[in-house]
Amino acid sequence: MDKKTLTLNGKTVEFQAGQTILEVARSYEVFIPALCYLDGCTATGACRICVVEVKGARSLIASCSTPAENGMDICTDSDRVRKSRRLTIELLLASGEHNCITCEKSGDCMLQNLAYSYGVDAIRFPVAPQPHPTEMMNPFIIRDFSRCILCGRCVQACQEVQVNRAISYGYRGPTAKIIAGCDKTYDESDCVFCGQCVQVCPVGALVEKKARFKGRAKDLDLVRTTCPYCGVGCQLWLHVKDGTIVKVTGVEDAQPNKGRLCVKGRFGYDFIYSEERNKTPLIREDGVLREASWDEALGLVANKFRETIEKHGPDSVAGVSCARSLNEDSYQMQKLFRAVFKTNNIDHCART
Ligand code: FES
Repeated sequence: MDKKTLTLNGKTVEFQAGQTILEVARSYEVFIPALCYLDGCTATGACRICVVEVKGARSLIASCSTPAENGMDICTDSDRVRKSRRLTIELLLASGEHNCITCEKSGDCMLQNLAYSYGVDAIRFPVAPQPHPTEMMNPFIIRDFSRCILCGRCVQACQEVQVNRAISYGYRGPTAKIIAGCDKTYDESDCVFCGQCVQVCPVGALVEKKARFKGRAKDLDLVRTTCPYCGVGCQLWLHVKDGTIVKVTGVEDAQPNKGRLCVKGRFGYDFIYSEERNKTPLIREDGVLREASWDEALGLVANKFRETIEKHGPDSVAGVSCARSLNEDSYQMQKLFRAVFKTNNIDHCART
């Protein structure tokens, strides 16, 4: 197969057929800003921030949606490119109320970062009035349309990453909006609250409701862990402030979930702080529960199993492994029943 080469900022580089200009640039660690582009999804070319100059082309070209071609001569950071990106940033800032003062995304906002790095400190256009009120009614996600730049990453996350197909583009022109169903609220639509739309939102249009005013990126420590809910073992980032979880996101570059989470993994962590949690084992005596040590509780359970098996045989006992257990714990439990108790009466509860 012929070797394919192109010129990238004056340097000849090789690439593979099918790669876009953005992919080729990234593979050589050449930075091109991208807002609407979502890794692994169909490029939509919606925001135009990733434009580059290609020699011989009449206009600037969106690098995220243009396949690289043999012999192309590409400049990713010319004056013309920078001027166009500045204009795009100004137009995006004018498209809504991008007030960073109390925005949850401040410090971690792709538009804010771009405005800073391109030195956009004033916009020449009037700020468009916002026709759509902020949606606050569901317990998990705030949808602030005044901060939405209509990049469509949330739509792609819903349609192509999670394949829930709950949201899409609606209306046209100045009233354009990301809609759920026929413009319903999230809680009235097919949304399953996986929160993937929040995770990929590059600005503060979609934020976790429970995290509101609890801490922004600079205040939070990241702790990696495994989801406690089922045996899949999804990898989580806990965003922690002063020892308390503020929000949860999926680890993008880790198996098995590659950034995806379900509603439980992303939003179901409040139980950790419940006053009703049992902190010690409880033993029921004469119908009343009393606190016990782990040694006492485990000794009691082991003795009960031993007595029952001695009296009635191994098949008189059975185990159901909790669906919230990790695969490794479930494996250990079936080993206990099969190898120690000598029974195959072991199952797994599918419900959580
Ligand atoms: Fe390429 Fe938006 S990132 S058009």
